[in-house]
Amino acid sequence: MDLTRRPRRLRTDGVRPLVRETELSASDLIAPVFVDATTDERQPIESMPGHERVPLDEAVARVEEVRETGVEAVILFGIPEAKDERGTRAWAADGVVQAATRRIKDETDAYVITDVCLCEYTSHGHCGVLEEGAAEEPTLTVRNDETLALLGQIATSHADAGADMVAPSSMTDGMVGAIRESLDGAGHDDVAIMSYAAKYESAFYGPFRDAADGAPAFGDRRHYQMDPANAREAAREVALDVEQGADVLMVKPALPYLDIVASVREQVDHPVAAYNVSGEYAMLHAAAEKGWLDLEAVAHESLLSIKRAGADLILTYFAEDVAAQL
Ligand code: PBG
Repeated sequence: MDLTRRPRRLRTDGVRPLVRETELSASDLIAPVFVDATTDERQPIESMPGHERVPLDEAVARVEEVRETGVEAVILFGIPEAKDERGTRAWAADGVVQAATRRIKDETDAYVITDVCLCEYTSHGHCGVLEEGAAEEPTLTVRNDETLALLGQIATSHADAGADMVAPSSMTDGMVGAIRESLDGAGHDDVAIMSYAAKYESAFYGPFRDAADGAPAFGDRRHYQMDPANAREAAREVALDVEQGADVLMVKPALPYLDIVASVREQVDHPVAAYNVSGEYAMLHAAAEKGWLDLEAVAHESLLSIKRAGADLILTYFAEDVAAQL
């Protein structure tokens, strides 16, 4: 046999590490943290085993737990004390994310990213201001341009509290530009924007919507999140966000969209992030609970494949567990 046709020679224990193309490290990972203004005690999230919503008083402790595993970056999600039609608690200076950010930045060296959206704060659970009568006619859309001003206010309130990076997730057209303008106007030109650039209308967000209490009360998010059938459209979304000043481009979800991760990697020189979402986490846990999969192994393999596809950063509920194994 022709000796050049023996790739197996490079699979012995000794040489495998030398020829490994992809290496996962704790510094690639971002851990989601849920801060809940409605509770005084940690609340387990049933569909996301091992994750909890923590009260404001536990936010620093929660972030320190993450940092102990070697993961230095967190993304904060807030559950406000009250919701209303416009989501006013989303940009309150004393809102849950703002207060948590302040404490975390005061007391730790964590890198704090905040999710910028309205769905956890609005009574209807949509990611923006609704058109009149939308509840009666759920095909009606959110008002894009009216939502932009609010996103700018939310991002700036997070930056005022000390956020290092803001991550708009509402799929509002023009959101990156509006947020950049608002941040710069408030003197926050050093705060970075990680755009949820290609965010699909995915059924894999189910457990998160329980966790953050952000499920739409009626209708769905089809008229603002992307159609799972579309790949070329992701390139268009990414180009628009780059034009508007995004610093990091995110693809979400991750595993079912690795083709998109790989093509965005080709398209831009910016760092690419992928969000290994709640459903991707929950399904591995469910199978492992039945004894059908080895959780540690499949979690590591999942993150490795996301990185191999081209992601520089991975947002994942496995951050702590995988980092602790590395
Ligand atoms: C808010 C937001 C969502 C997620 C992150 N930010 C929910 C959604 O769009 O429904 C989902 C994260 C996950 O499933 O882990 N817009």
